[in-house]
Amino acid sequence: MYNITAIPGDGIGPEVMEGAMYVLDNLRIKIKWDIVNAGASVVQEKGRPLPDEVLQSITTNRVVLKGPITTPVGKDFRSINVELRKRFKLYANVRPVISIPGVKSRYSGIDVVIIRENTQGLYTGIEYKTDRDTAHALKLITREASERIVQFAFVYAKKHHRKRVTCFHKANIMKLTDGLFLESARQVARRYPDLEYQELIVDNGCMQMVINPEKFDVLVMPNLYGDIMSDMCAGLVGGLGLVPGANIGKDAAIFEAVHGSAPDLAGRNTANPTALILTSALMLDYLGEKDKAEILRKAVFRVIKEGIYVTPDLLGSASTLGMAEEVVKYINL
Ligand code: NAI
Repeated sequence: MYNITAIPGDGIGPEVMEGAMYVLDNLRIKIKWDIVNAGASVVQEKGRPLPDEVLQSITTNRVVLKGPITTPVGKDFRSINVELRKRFKLYANVRPVISIPGVKSRYSGIDVVIIRENTQGLYTGIEYKTDRDTAHALKLITREASERIVQFAFVYAKKHHRKRVTCFHKANIMKLTDGLFLESARQVARRYPDLEYQELIVDNGCMQMVINPEKFDVLVMPNLYGDIMSDMCAGLVGGLGLVPGANIGKDAAIFEAVHGSAPDLAGRNTANPTALILTSALMLDYLGEKDKAEILRKAVFRVIKEGIYVTPDLLGSASTLGMAEEVVKYINL
């Protein structure tokens, strides 16, 4: 029996979460869910976006399946996502992006894994104004966190029989911060002579990714570049409805899709549940349930390949739950 915290979140969160939990509950795996919520939707009732019961549940269960949480631009509350990643020291954001047969996209054969440093860079939230017209943001990079994430990328590459790790950086301009990240990456790479190591300045990396995405393998990079690169790569494989993710730390892990709360789709029951279902498969891998994870992936890929019971982003007309139900049919075949 696994005790898992579920955070439905905002916008399409409750809808895709319903789909993913339905699939997991039909996978013949015993899960005791502790459903708590955070985000914009709980502020009115609880008085704040991250209630204590959420923190308590994560502290106890240490494994979380999470929907997206809205972060209003400008004022209001700070990002709950960033807060959770920092508080539980979830230093590695792992986002596998693959071409799924059946999805209409200009590309095929994409199979990259983005490993994003998740706690530092420009996401420290330390910003201040020196006068009315001047704002500063602090970009924090430490050797310890940089070596830790690059080490994570190499260990991941070895474990998953990957061949190459590419470090994206902007050390030509940010000589001290990205310079330190790059220096740390080189240091760690030397310990893995059997894996190929490559460096690319992030803007050139983006261009090469768009021209030849199938050339890339495991990517490691500071926080902001990883955030941007994730959405860009999602676009290459058919959209945000398809890309899963995991936030991994030493003592806890929060599994969430790359996409956000998609206010444009919220409440329509048409959001693609694939990203969160594949995220659930990453969670099963983490729990050691590799066989179940594989069954789940195969079922999702078959539904997408058939192309009938898929959501509108994949040119179908299925509802979020309808697509999840179809996945369960393939699980039970
Ligand atoms: P978004 O990822 O919510 O949406 C971008 C585009 O992708 C939209 O056109 C949306 O309809 C589409 N999309 C997203 N998920 C989809 C799905 N499952 N199926 C089909 N189409 C999908 O990004 P946006 O609009 O920039 O952000 C909305 C809110 O979400 C913001 O408040 C942002 O801060 C928050 N956010 C939260 C994240 C998290 O909780 N981990 C991650 C990213 C954004």
